[in-house]
Amino acid sequence: MHSPLFNGISALIAGLSLLAISCSLSPSAKKAPVQRDPHSFANHNQVVVKHLDLDLEVDFTQKQLRGKASLKIENTAKTDTLILDTRDLKIEKVTLGDGNDPASFVLGEPVKYLGQSLTIKVAPTTSLVTIYYSTKPEAAALQWLAPGQTAGGKKPFLLTQSQAILARTWVPCQDNPAVRMTYNARIKTPPGMLALMSAENSPDIKPDGVYEFKMPQAIPSYLLALTVGDIAFKPISDRCGMYAEPAVIEKAAYEFADAEKMITAAEGLYGPYRWGRYDMIVLPPSFPFGGMENPRLTFLTPTVLAGDRSLVAIIAHELAHSWSGNLVTNASWGDFWLNEGFTVYFERRILESLYGRRYSEMQALLGFQDLQKEVTTLGDTSADTHLYLDLKGRDPDDAVNDIPYEKGYFLLRKIEQTVGRERWDAFLRSYFDGHGFQSITTAGFLTILRDSLLRDFPDAEQVIAIDSWVFRPGIPSNHPVVTSDAFTKVEHEAKKWIGGAQAATLATSGWTTQEWIHFLRELPKPMSAQQMRNLDTRFGFSKSGNVEILHEWFLHVIANNYAPAYPALEKFLTSVGRRKFLKPLYTELAKTPEGLSFAKRMYKIARPGYHAVSVNTVDIILKWQ
Ligand code: BES
Ligand code: ZN
Repeated sequence: MHSPLFNGISALIAGLSLLAISCSLSPSAKKAPVQRDPHSFANHNQVVVKHLDLDLEVDFTQKQLRGKASLKIENTAKTDTLILDTRDLKIEKVTLGDGNDPASFVLGEPVKYLGQSLTIKVAPTTSLVTIYYSTKPEAAALQWLAPGQTAGGKKPFLLTQSQAILARTWVPCQDNPAVRMTYNARIKTPPGMLALMSAENSPDIKPDGVYEFKMPQAIPSYLLALTVGDIAFKPISDRCGMYAEPAVIEKAAYEFADAEKMITAAEGLYGPYRWGRYDMIVLPPSFPFGGMENPRLTFLTPTVLAGDRSLVAIIAHELAHSWSGNLVTNASWGDFWLNEGFTVYFERRILESLYGRRYSEMQALLGFQDLQKEVTTLGDTSADTHLYLDLKGRDPDDAVNDIPYEKGYFLLRKIEQTVGRERWDAFLRSYFDGHGFQSITTAGFLTILRDSLLRDFPDAEQVIAIDSWVFRPGIPSNHPVVTSDAFTKVEHEAKKWIGGAQAATLATSGWTTQEWIHFLRELPKPMSAQQMRNLDTRFGFSKSGNVEILHEWFLHVIANNYAPAYPALEKFLTSVGRRKFLKPLYTELAKTPEGLSFAKRMYKIARPGYHAVSVNTVDIILKWQ
């Protein structure tokens, strides 16, 4: 199948099909489809993919997925072309229906971030299109880990990250969050490895390495996910469990033992969990995000394994996406706040119900600080601080910052405050019920909100000033104010220390991670080496096993060039691939010439071990290459 001869023939066919398609497009196919997603080539308004059958072999030696994707399509416009998204895919052959004859196809010119359109000639009656293809080693969604990058150190590992527009680097599809499809998959792995997907999973290793998956609920392409490795399983409840490498599984299951309670709390708030099981997998440290809400199987960074369950907000967050995002989905990446703002709101409601208001308010206050910092970074008149974003011509990844998360959260909290929790909860519940398995635009959401909930509150529109949140920059002056007694006490201790009190005399006993983070954020910049030493000796920040604390501390370490903590910083930068930490740390380092040269030294070592998503971000910060 992969002989040079075949490749030659397929190249010839591809060349011919270019001619064929350009000569024979019908007038209907030439019409620009309405409402085009700026990040997808797909003509889903004419012909839509309803189901995907994947059949892939995982080749660790060549860092390649190889096989075929069969797409069931619904050609409502009776168009003669199906346009798909691809990026860095090698297309061998395309067939229509059950036939084996090659169909005409053409790959468009590569466009930055977007990849290449794959235009396939179909008949109005075609209902099945099969694409024979393979991925390239540099496919951005895929990370191929060497055994040395895993906890076990013996077997390689594969993980995917499809959000926002990377699914097209491993599956030819309509890579647009407004399109949903069901999928089945057959994945062949080397013997002795477990494959898992964002689908119905089984923890049993198959001796022949062949795994079958079913995803009966329709999902957008950015939720396609696959991981393969030496993976163990431990149940948490009868519908929830933990996957991780054997060396990590006990720690992981302990850390997130509250997951079942969270599901129950979430259902009590906004209706039934609709995806069957809820499992999680803790991945190797190069995973570029804290978590990713792949349906039925949340992907997690191991950096949240603090040992004391203090970073569980992450699972409240990814679980909440099972409603906000996975069930009701942002229609385009400019509407991303509908996914993340709602999820942060929902996350904090879950946390409140499990751990109380004191806890969730500390999270909210830290979130407000993140928002203020982000607005300062972007500039308070920047259009990037709007909730709704026009991302035409830009990588949607540019919009991944604290604005959609925290400004989104505070808008929803403002609505709650204005109409009262009871009415707001009832609205949200019917919103998830009424729009499940659909995508939604910002305008669509605002219409629903105004036509239902806000009808009963004539003053609400003015009090909330929705448009100033959604379409204008900065933090609106009517933002909800969060107060926390716990944080007031922390501020008091920080002031004492700044005034000259020794660290040993501060009343810090019983502080939670959130209080420590707040303390670190209250510290002045700059501090003297003696002050830094006093803190580090007493509180052991450089040795902290809690990445959130470590990260806040490292920001001071860099700003004050505090040499004794550099070995710890070095270890962190070369072992953790989580972008949320890498971005601020490298940014802080790049502010001084010495910092920049240290950063470059670290990055040279670390870059090959980071996922493409993090590499992209750090390349820009350090002006790499
Ligand atoms: N869906 C996001 C991760 C994401 C966003 C991936 C955009 C690609 C593009 C996930 O739910 C998320 O928000 N993760 C956060 C953690 C969360 C607790 C705020 C992260 O990774 O830090
Ligand atoms: Zn999220």
